[in-house]
Amino acid sequence: MNNIFYPNEEQFQNSPIPNMETYRGLVSDFEKDYEGTWAKFADEKIDWFKPYDKVLDESNAPFYKWFSGGEMNVAHQCVDRHLATKKNKAAIIFEGDNGDQQVLTYRELAYEVNKTANMFKNEFGIQKGDRVVIYMPMIPEAAVSMLACAKIGAIHSIVFGGFSAEALRDRIIDAEAKLVVTSDGAYRKGKPYMLKPVVDKALESGCECVKKVCIVERNGEDITWVAGRDYAYNELIKSQSPKCDAELMESEDPLFLLYTSGSTGKPKGVQHSSAGYILWAQMTMEWVFDVKENDTYWCTADIGWITGHTYIVYGPLAAGATTVMFEGVPTFPDAGRCWKMVEEYQINQFYTAPTAIRLLHKMGEDEPSKYDLSSLRVLGTVGEPIDPPAWKWYYEQVGNSNCSIVDTYWQTETGGHVVSPLPAATPIKPACATFPLPGISAEVIEEDGTPTPVGEKGFMCITKPWPSMIRNIWNDSERFKKSYFGDCKKDGQPVYFSGDGAMIDEEGYITITGRTDDVINVSGHRMGTAEVEAAIKKHDNVASVAVVGKPHEIKGEGIFAYIVLKSVPMEHKDEIADELELMKEINGIIKAEIGAIALCDAMAFVPDLPKTRSGKIMRRILRSIVKGEAITQDTSTLEDPSIVGTIESIVNNDV
Ligand code: PRX
Repeated sequence: MNNIFYPNEEQFQNSPIPNMETYRGLVSDFEKDYEGTWAKFADEKIDWFKPYDKVLDESNAPFYKWFSGGEMNVAHQCVDRHLATKKNKAAIIFEGDNGDQQVLTYRELAYEVNKTANMFKNEFGIQKGDRVVIYMPMIPEAAVSMLACAKIGAIHSIVFGGFSAEALRDRIIDAEAKLVVTSDGAYRKGKPYMLKPVVDKALESGCECVKKVCIVERNGEDITWVAGRDYAYNELIKSQSPKCDAELMESEDPLFLLYTSGSTGKPKGVQHSSAGYILWAQMTMEWVFDVKENDTYWCTADIGWITGHTYIVYGPLAAGATTVMFEGVPTFPDAGRCWKMVEEYQINQFYTAPTAIRLLHKMGEDEPSKYDLSSLRVLGTVGEPIDPPAWKWYYEQVGNSNCSIVDTYWQTETGGHVVSPLPAATPIKPACATFPLPGISAEVIEEDGTPTPVGEKGFMCITKPWPSMIRNIWNDSERFKKSYFGDCKKDGQPVYFSGDGAMIDEEGYITITGRTDDVINVSGHRMGTAEVEAAIKKHDNVASVAVVGKPHEIKGEGIFAYIVLKSVPMEHKDEIADELELMKEINGIIKAEIGAIALCDAMAFVPDLPKTRSGKIMRRILRSIVKGEAITQDTSTLEDPSIVGTIESIVNNDV
């Protein structure tokens, strides 16, 4: 598919960026006056309590500061400031797994946020700067808790509900959280599941920092209560005042931490700011999704990931939009669930991940045609490269060849979109993230900053600081510098490197080619190979292990582990039963240490790993083997070059 798809002009009246001329004009404004143009947007978009003194402070690079001296509050920006004009507009439309519905208008949202903020302050002693871990399902109270933290200046750290007790504990301890907000559980595929027991388990093994646990009732299942520690949200909330002053937050005060995988075993607590983050969340919401006053926008992500933070809660609410929150899964009760919801709520923008698109395509090629999807204008994808067949189905079957597809490239660290089509303006090449957004100096370069030649793979870098960029790694400034500013330079200065490879074509279109580090992208979620390896090594019989990504029809990439056992089953064929048992045990450990998202799809038990004489595992060889590619790497530097052939035979089941 080499065609170019042009936006349908009728679909996009009065868009903020209506055509490429406007796009180029904005890009040139930023080129001519970078800080002045950012200042113009900051003045126009943010309801400042106190004006800032300086747009960009680069004196302590790469610890950049934006809008220093300014005071504002993100909850005020997202909720309170809208009360004058939108108090009865739906802010959040919630649909539960069972089809139960709830609508919170901006007035009701303000009421709930204030009561919750007062509860956090008065009942749990939470103050500005304290960390609050939110371990919640997709229910409105999760968004309310985030905003309540923002209102009083507490820093939230959301832990995805699919993470295990161990993973939750590590994140609680690293952030030194005082309070955990959770629920008894929730519903998935028509059945209740539990979260509170996971919190109990996490807190049993350390976490002295946590003084209180606040529990929302969702599924009503029995849970245990620890006296003096556990409190019922639904009870305490009743007596709270619905009035709460917004804490005055300096622009650079942290809004949240969100842990994400890196190339070592320890997840990184990505720290975001208040003003710069919310500014870009709001601007991209308006530019990339083209949300209009009467639109209903739906992002299917989970709030446990950055997409949920920026494009379910902060971006849509800052833009005064109506955002849909969905507790269920797209395939329950059947593959028409999403399309039924699009029809029912007359969704105008639908944002999901390629993995969901591939799954829905597979389960119901014609399913979308059974519903009226004519309200849709913008279809978004995020999290991983989208393959052309999935793109085509999304465009033709879901969008009726009438919607713009925005393939949005960004990361936990970028806070919001950085490379993406603009729905009214960008001529789209399928499965291509297209151009950098205005204000974002995204460039495909070599390590020394020279532009990568057209058609070749280079490093996806952002060569100037931007307002919504990561500010630090919690508790680890050195790792922050090393992880993001250690690899690439431009004009001799370190620049932000995303960890992704990319290619640029002769017309300047950017295609993301995937991670260049040891991070696997499973269903659009980042998984560090070192994290999975650390879990596998906990098995008594594992001597060494190397984990790589393996292409997967639905997930994009699955996890494949090469394992060397302490006691090796001698004959592979005869030991199949043992191997299956071992695989179960190992996956059991992974589930307990990280969560079901990190389970291995396949494992190969091998006599050794391809190591150099200095002991470094040559993962590229292992990646090639699992993809069935010819080995092009030089194997002569290996301690035992013959191991490559042996591993190949085992993986290909030749032995
Ligand atoms: O490899 C890129 C991939 O997802 C990574 C970021 O993951 P995370 O921080 O969990 O955030 C996911 C949601 C923003 C990136 O380094 N990625 C994200 N969007 C795209 C993508 N790869 C290709 N195309 C995209 N549109």
